[in-house]
Amino acid sequence: MTTLAIVRDVAGVRAHVAAARADGRRVALVPTMGALHEGHLSLVAIARAHAELVVASLFVNPAQFGPGEDFARYPRDEARDRRLLAEAGCDLLFAPATETVYPPGFATRVSVSGLTEGFEGAVRPGHFDGVATIVAKLFGMVQPDLAVFGEKDWQQLAVIRRLVADLDLPVAILPGPTCRDSDGLALSSRNAYLSPQERAIAAAFPRALHQAAAALAAGAAIDATLAEAGSRICAAGFAAVDYVALVDPDTLVPLATLDRPGRLIAAARLGTTRLLDNLEVRPDGLAPAA
Ligand code: PAF
Repeated sequence: MTTLAIVRDVAGVRAHVAAARADGRRVALVPTMGALHEGHLSLVAIARAHAELVVASLFVNPAQFGPGEDFARYPRDEARDRRLLAEAGCDLLFAPATETVYPPGFATRVSVSGLTEGFEGAVRPGHFDGVATIVAKLFGMVQPDLAVFGEKDWQQLAVIRRLVADLDLPVAILPGPTCRDSDGLALSSRNAYLSPQERAIAAAFPRALHQAAAALAAGAAIDATLAEAGSRICAAGFAAVDYVALVDPDTLVPLATLDRPGRLIAAARLGTTRLLDNLEVRPDGLAPAA
């Protein structure tokens, strides 16, 4: 287990980063909102494999929650998060207060157009402005060489890649594969909201997506396959399906034909909890990605 240092101010995090750079060590950032699970710890492991100073940030960012969303009840347990990060080999926790991130007079909003308009952006207006703003802000505060984001939030990952490319930010973005429970449910801090009954139903969501991905890869009609996946999810007891779509992995433009690898992305509501998931879909016979 490493000794986890904790800093809450920008000067503190910059001092650690400057010391690492002076020694020729690379700096990785794993941005989080806490409530850590194995998925986050797998991102720390990726960071560890690519850098000699691993920084995790813990900040429940009010700017990415809409009115009526779960900002107030979002799970918070810093002591537990600190223990898990130390066990995972993280070196430094940057856990700023809201006033440090958004001091009085803060007036900047970072907005990525196009990519943010559909899917999560349509259901959660303003969400991606909040994400893009905090990620740009974290990159400015920490100044990492690389940062690791989970593939579970596929649209978020695409937005962050676009942000970094468009603003020439000198940060390499590394994706972390989705971690799943034994029944296939993607790990998420919000799974903690599920009742035992809902948790038992939840596995129907990734199951329906795997069935759809296999059918699409084998050449099934796209619209009918997506509709069938939505019906299966609802039939399992979900309250609603926000979307099930087959899109280009980078632009998130819906694919009319699967003539190249696509991404099956989906969101559905189980009780009051929204679950997100996504899978790669490669046409059968196409060589695996290198
Ligand atoms: O994915 C998350 O946990 C958050 O959206 C992030 C990237 C830490 C920004 O607050």
